[in-house]
Amino acid sequence: MARQELLRSVFDQSLPRRSASQRKLRSEAMSRHLISNVSQDRVKINARDRVFVLTGAGISAESGLKTFRDGNGLWAGYRVETVATPEGWDANPELVWQFYSERRRESQASHPNAAHYALAELEDKIGDHLFLCTQNVDDLHERGGSRNMVHMHGELFKSRCEADCGAPVIEDRNGYRSLCEIPLCACGARLRPHIVWFGEIPLQMARIQHEIDCCSILLVVGTSGAVHPAASFVHWANMRAASPARTYYVGPEKPLNANAFTQIILGKAGEKLPGLFNLL
Ligand SMILES: NC(=O)c1ccc[n+]([C@@H]2O[C@H](COP(=O)([O-])OP(=O)(O)OC[C@H]3O[C@@H](n4cnc5c(N)ncnc54)[C@H](O)[C@@H]3O)[C@@H](O)[C@H]2O)c1
Ligand SMILES: [Zn+2]
Repeated sequence: MARQELLRSVFDQSLPRRSASQRKLRSEAMSRHLISNVSQDRVKINARDRVFVLTGAGISAESGLKTFRDGNGLWAGYRVETVATPEGWDANPELVWQFYSERRRESQASHPNAAHYALAELEDKIGDHLFLCTQNVDDLHERGGSRNMVHMHGELFKSRCEADCGAPVIEDRNGYRSLCEIPLCACGARLRPHIVWFGEIPLQMARIQHEIDCCSILLVVGTSGAVHPAASFVHWANMRAASPARTYYVGPEKPLNANAFTQIILGKAGEKLPGLFNLL
């Protein structure tokens, strides 16, 4: 059996819980990159290691979703202050919903790439020794098969009451283009995207802090190191005097906090993550 076929069959056999279509998409995406990665340094993971993964917009770039550093502070052509802040919402909720409706459409039309699949594959092998924290609001990690994960900046396909009246967050895949289309909560306030905007507090921080405290390997993928608190996670992992974690960054350019990492692996996530992990 050719090496590539052999590797592909190993990947497929290790995925009993995935659907046939998920396996096919992933197998195609991974086979494009297997051969080019065999000679790179690998991240060694033993049975006692706990891996904390932080991802940012860069991991979805190869799926066709724009990061906002690419656009000099613009996200898909919009000024971030107008669409991703509470002030932007107060000033123009219609524009905010137009923006997130477009992001919903774009995300639904995109597919997970080899990097999303590589992280799901690692989780299949090490189970709850992997914890994934994403800053992304898209659902490409879930569609790639990740399970033990949190969206610290919220989720594109959920909406909630703008007045925080206590009504539950709802699943919502709709698009809203005009003010009169925006649905109202039972309390009379508008529904807003379930997104953590700039100036708001990220979600699940206690759990994230706990997972960083427990991890022995911290892997950061595709984030500029400019948005806090996520940019501080590598420092939190380094500050544990008893057992600092081994820390890795994967992306095509050095992040702002590059000096804090044990190792920087320069390259696109979809090319570097498949084949990166060496399970001991
Ligand atoms: N897909 C999404 O959900 C999405 C998209 C844009 C912005 N955002 C939000 O905006 C914030 C932006 O912060 P951020 O640091 O995540 O993104 P960012 O836009 O600030 O930075 C993107 C980073 O990705 C890197 N990158 C580009 N292509 C890559 C590739 N192929 N592989 C790996 N890395 C690549 C860039 O070098 C850069 O460092 C996040 O909080 C996020 O919530 C989300
Ligand atoms: Zn309400």
